Amino acid sequence: MLTSTQELLETARRNVYAIGAFNVYNLEGVKAVITAAEAASSPVMLQLHPSALKYGKAPLVALCMESARRATVPVSVHLDHSTSAQDIRLALESGVRSIMADGSPLSYEENRAFTRDMTALCHEYGAVVEAEIGRISGTEDGLTIAEKEAKMTDPDQALEFVHFAKVDSLAVTIGNVHGEYKSPPRLDFPRLEKIRRMLDLPLVLHGASGLPEDMISRSIQLGVCKFNVNTEVRQAYMEALKDEICGDSPKDLLEIAGEAIAAMAEVITDKLHLFGSVGKAHLHETPYARSLAAYEQA
Ligand code: 13P
Repeated sequence: MLTSTQELLETARRNVYAIGAFNVYNLEGVKAVITAAEAASSPVMLQLHPSALKYGKAPLVALCMESARRATVPVSVHLDHSTSAQDIRLALESGVRSIMADGSPLSYEENRAFTRDMTALCHEYGAVVEAEIGRISGTEDGLTIAEKEAKMTDPDQALEFVHFAKVDSLAVTIGNVHGEYKSPPRLDFPRLEKIRRMLDLPLVLHGASGLPEDMISRSIQLGVCKFNVNTEVRQAYMEALKDEICGDSPKDLLEIAGEAIAAMAEVITDKLHLFGSVGKAHLHETPYARSLAAYEQA
């Protein structure tokens, strides 16, 4: 059932769990996410990184949208980390109603202006917008502590930013990183708590691969209701392909694809348990979700 991201996040926030947003690149990825979510009766998000959009363009968006419509659980489709107005327009024109307008590589002033303009555009389409201030790093090695601190989300700035740009959710940077954590993760929970006290909107944590259970549940208690996951699922995919292709008993193409889907689905299922969304699909079957589904099917 294609559902709005805002409904997914608000319901999760109210009921103190989080939605897993999984990056997908192709049919196998989409199948893995939907299969795992359906088996777990969990709401879920399919998200496309700009590199995936560049690779698959409108046909890949259409695959995600159609798979979401046909799923037996609530699913929304989201454009992740978009720094490009052109990509945002392509996604909107293709029916995506959930966009991350990512001005975090820009200066604070430029980020504010970019995010405000993109949010106004998205709202015209009835789409919701996630934004980021502070900047999550994917290559932490080489950054000094002071540099790292400077890139964390500043709670006062976050308040000003959200009011100015009128975004619907905010990705926070509190020590989370994209990709593998090179040393044990350390999240700045007092910072998250302050942000949560100051801002009444869904909070998002990127870089959920490699975060331990206690940090996930503490983040949820402090208002995080969406976790982005990519690295661990990609690793499972690549390893399954490698094992199946290079293994002793050669398999056929569809068998290999099936093994890769199963490997990704296993990781996704574990994450859905960690995020507390297993068995929560029914909570999202609101009149809004039902009417959207009916509208989509008409
Ligand atoms: P990981 O690759 O660390 O799981 O992060 C994914 C992410 O945040 C995508 O936006």
